Amino acid sequence: MRICCIGAGYVGGPTMAVMARKCPDVRVDVVDIDAARIAAWNGDCLPVFEPGLAEVVSEVREKNLFFSTDVDSCVRDADIVFISVNTPTKTYGYGAGRASDISFVESCARKIAEVSKGGKVVVEKSTLPVRTAEVIRSILAGSGMDFQVLSNPEFLAEGSAVRDLENPDRVLIGGDDASPGGRAAIDLLSSIYERWVDPSKIIKTNLWSSELSKLTANAFLAQRISSINAISALCEITGADVDEVARAVGSDSRIGSKFLKSSIGFGGSCFKKDLLNLVYLCEHFHLAEAAAYWRAVLDMNRYQKARFSRKVLDSLFGNIRSKRIAIFGFSFKENTNDTRESPAIDVCADFLNEHAHLAFYDPRVSPKQICAELGVDENDPRVEFCPSAEEAADGAYAIVLLTHWEEFVLLDYEKIYATMKKPAWIFDGRNCLDHRLLLEIGYNVCGIGKGNLS
Ligand code: UDX
Ligand code: ADP
Repeated sequence: MRICCIGAGYVGGPTMAVMARKCPDVRVDVVDIDAARIAAWNGDCLPVFEPGLAEVVSEVREKNLFFSTDVDSCVRDADIVFISVNTPTKTYGYGAGRASDISFVESCARKIAEVSKGGKVVVEKSTLPVRTAEVIRSILAGSGMDFQVLSNPEFLAEGSAVRDLENPDRVLIGGDDASPGGRAAIDLLSSIYERWVDPSKIIKTNLWSSELSKLTANAFLAQRISSINAISALCEITGADVDEVARAVGSDSRIGSKFLKSSIGFGGSCFKKDLLNLVYLCEHFHLAEAAAYWRAVLDMNRYQKARFSRKVLDSLFGNIRSKRIAIFGFSFKENTNDTRESPAIDVCADFLNEHAHLAFYDPRVSPKQICAELGVDENDPRVEFCPSAEEAADGAYAIVLLTHWEEFVLLDYEKIYATMKKPAWIFDGRNCLDHRLLLEIGYNVCGIGKGNLS
């Protein structure tokens, strides 16, 4: 059995590494057109940072896991081909700003049809608009060979990808369950997962249910965050504490406690893109009210980020021009080097508009990456990159914590306080610090949904 995965990104790389480890008798080739990325996967510094990933890769690389740019021969020789390429929001033409750009997926389907010598099972791994399988199917049908198209969306979260892949809540496989060939393909893919996943966790559906379930799962998760963030605004006015409200609400077993952590807003490559995709689908099918409902989840996220930057500005007397502000964390969440749609981008852009001087520290994100996201040059006098959180805070008027890296929780804030301008502010955009302690040290503290802390 040979598996090939097209796309060596945040999804393809970790997913295939875990699959190769769990299936030592299966050869897994991960291919990409980006030669630099493939070189990085073959080197010591992997292009994706994930806890535990380097260990998995070093165990199986060059044994049954191979990274290569030789797309044609790896696809040709595979029994199962996963498509795990990027599907960004379309930036041009019809549906711009909302619909997903599936051009990369289409070119993969054309490549599979072109180089294959016989039928294969083709698996959509990327999150796609509902009915994309139909596009893939019709391109493959032109080849005259017997292809089966499956949808097998990935539910891993960055930062815990290896754990999520090794122990998933469920594996979803959608296929043409009305035909014997479709059912055989579903069973073949299922047999791969059954090597390490309990069969009761493998959900088999038709193609469209599988495609739509992925969008819906992400929309529900994002909606919970926007819901608690909407409540956080109310907490700040009424004196309620959003973490206490979340705990009280989340202990209702019908609601559950996860994804109720109020923050500066959600980021990441999936939530916004998938919500926009859902809005676009609803609009396409003339479901204006359903579209407006899901759009509101995004509106709330935008509002939360803007509200936070405004609070920083107002607290510093409406003036942050030339003031040093320490930015703790830039990735969209902890334990990843991914900055896609990070709320830090909008918040820092607001500060730069006010001509603040930003001193960045993120344990995993490079200065180059931060500059690319903010559209500034590394030599821009408004930005500075520090080798530690302490150095970023040295001489700062405020610390703005944007990512919940564990090392920020463990810092010696008393020592840091002594090096800062007074009044020294901490804006905890993740509610992860000990606010009582910080107040005792002498900081002015501002969390999310915490009312006035004094
Ligand atoms: C998400 C889904 O969780 C995953 O199942 C899907 O496959 C891909 O999209 P990911 O974007 O990697 O995963 O991270 P996730 O843990 O979902 O966090 C997304 C954003 O929401 C982050 O910015 C995070 O900080 C924020 N978040 C999460 C909150 O603000 N509060 C919460 O309670 C949870
Ligand atoms: P994700 O988070 O979905 O994994 P990434 O952007 O991290 O998305 O990775 C997608 C990868 O797919 C990129 O490395 C990109 O170079 C690769 N890719 C896109 N189109 C093709 C293609 N036609 N053939 C091979 N690789 C492709």
